[in-house]
Amino acid sequence: MSWVCGRALSLSQPCVSVLSAWRSVHRRWAQRSGGALLTTPIFYVNAGPHLGHVHSVLLADCLHRERALRRRETRLSTGTDEHGLKIQQAAEAAGKDPYQFCSQVSDQFRAVFDHTLISYTDYIRTTEEHHKRAVEAFWTVLSERGYIYKGVYEGWYSTPDESFLTESQVMHIQDQKGNLVKVSSESGHQVYWTREENYMFKLSDFRSLLLKWLESHKHAVYPEKFYQIVLQWLQEDLPDLSVSRERSRLKWGIPVPGDSQQTVYVWLDALVNYLTVAGYPEAHHSWWPAVHHVVGKDILKFHAIYWPAFLMAAGLAPPERIYVHSHWTVHGQKMSKSLGNVVDPIDCCGQYTVDGFRYFLLRQGVPDRDCDFYHEKVVQLLNAELADALGGLLNRCSAPAMNPAQDYGFFSNSCFPNKQDRFDRAVSARAVEEDYQLIEVVENLPVEVQTHYENFQIYKALEAIDTCVRLTNRFFQRHMPWKLDRNKPFEKLWLDTIMYVTMECLRMYGTLLQPVVPSIADKLLSRLGVAQNERTLKDFGFLARYHGKYCSFEGRKLGPDTGVLFHRLDPHKSQKIRGPSIIKL
Ligand code: ME8
Ligand code: MG
Repeated sequence: MSWVCGRALSLSQPCVSVLSAWRSVHRRWAQRSGGALLTTPIFYVNAGPHLGHVHSVLLADCLHRERALRRRETRLSTGTDEHGLKIQQAAEAAGKDPYQFCSQVSDQFRAVFDHTLISYTDYIRTTEEHHKRAVEAFWTVLSERGYIYKGVYEGWYSTPDESFLTESQVMHIQDQKGNLVKVSSESGHQVYWTREENYMFKLSDFRSLLLKWLESHKHAVYPEKFYQIVLQWLQEDLPDLSVSRERSRLKWGIPVPGDSQQTVYVWLDALVNYLTVAGYPEAHHSWWPAVHHVVGKDILKFHAIYWPAFLMAAGLAPPERIYVHSHWTVHGQKMSKSLGNVVDPIDCCGQYTVDGFRYFLLRQGVPDRDCDFYHEKVVQLLNAELADALGGLLNRCSAPAMNPAQDYGFFSNSCFPNKQDRFDRAVSARAVEEDYQLIEVVENLPVEVQTHYENFQIYKALEAIDTCVRLTNRFFQRHMPWKLDRNKPFEKLWLDTIMYVTMECLRMYGTLLQPVVPSIADKLLSRLGVAQNERTLKDFGFLARYHGKYCSFEGRKLGPDTGVLFHRLDPHKSQKIRGPSIIKL
């Protein structure tokens, strides 16, 4: 591959000042607020939404809801990436006007996100006028600051990835007909040779600034594995980047300001969506750079190298965090239309319920390695954790046979003395060592869960909750309240205490599960009689009575909905997961 670049500009001056400028902006923001703008990738509209897209958006939704639970300022943006060669070709193949084509698929993405209860606050389409203005403004700043020049780009291009590749990033493989073809080593997509006059971005100038940024922000790219990958990339060649295409080849995109013969490169256009949402070019400072991007590992380079470099060049700070997750495979295979194994999220919601689907993806979706999706695993997990453990626990303490008064229970300090008093306790004390261990673990659960969220390990948060649910079931089992005689005053005191402690634990699980399974959590909390305004972690007051304080839940009437929390799924019902059924273009 050869590079024939145009005028080389002197860039050292702006680069040095860039780092200190964005550091001070960053500090100003951090002092003012603890808020964050969470973003998902914006999805290509050449095909409809699948399981993988929903997984990305769900992760971000969950972080967003968890922040809201802690009453932090939060925003969640998602949307669709609608320009570029890939979309232009897909619209042509469908014989549709590109804008209509994009609208149709973008609506499908939005419908799937609505269906899966994604609580986005912003839904952006790159074909919107305000985004076009943001891209034009951003381009103009890059250009005025001397980071864009005209050159001749010659090299490989992968249309499915909308990505320029160097010789070291491509390899030969044999296609189905036995012909040798060049493909991207990373994505496996075919590449083709291109030579055209383009605008180039002076990416090569940013290597040391990017390294400095990463060195001083060890958690900027998370999990650690991906941080190391980015550092590794920065040891390799970092050539300047072509940031436009000839208009004659790419009509479907935003024209370069001041040059109608060129179209802005779709990745530059797409990345700026995050700024558009934040209010760029006028009002972004109230959010920027408190931005947390959730992305798949396939687009890490664009977010952790190109995007921070673009931002620094424009005098803006890189994002605070880039959360990276791995991919879902299906029965061990990569999802692909040609293999016919693309998993349809709507179909999954039909089979497992929306909350069941959400729970499975978040419980099994480990960010640092690929996860495999198959029906039997979903059924087994949901039955064990949602139906048996959680649903079973609620059922045990709320079923009329066990709880004829249909109330929250009452706490007796003589049955369950305070931890300090338990060694010189009265004969009436019934609580045993394991019970104290249980309440200690549950008391610490919010902090543990929050730490897992901060480390982008939602699956660990769910594991911790599930462990507590099981411990609470054991507590119930251990004391066998069904054997207690409610007509005997001492036994009744202990029975009511067991109920109260169990309900308090359930209130904790219901509250903490809201970001993941909003409908199930709502059902659970409603059944416990917890009002809408009592569902945050603020002033939670876990086991207030045990701590000698007033508890407004004690003795409260249970809610009227006695329905099953989560219906067991039939493991013998063979359910074939189909490809996206709603996507008919
Ligand atoms: O790359 N498992 O859009 P895209 C998990 N428009 N997640 C998956 C997945 C899988 N098997 N397949 C896809 C683009 N994803 C650009 C983004 S952002 C400024 C522009 C998810 O439609 C994952 O998050 O190809 C991945 O990064 C994203 O979908 C790619 O979606
Ligand atoms: Mg893709």
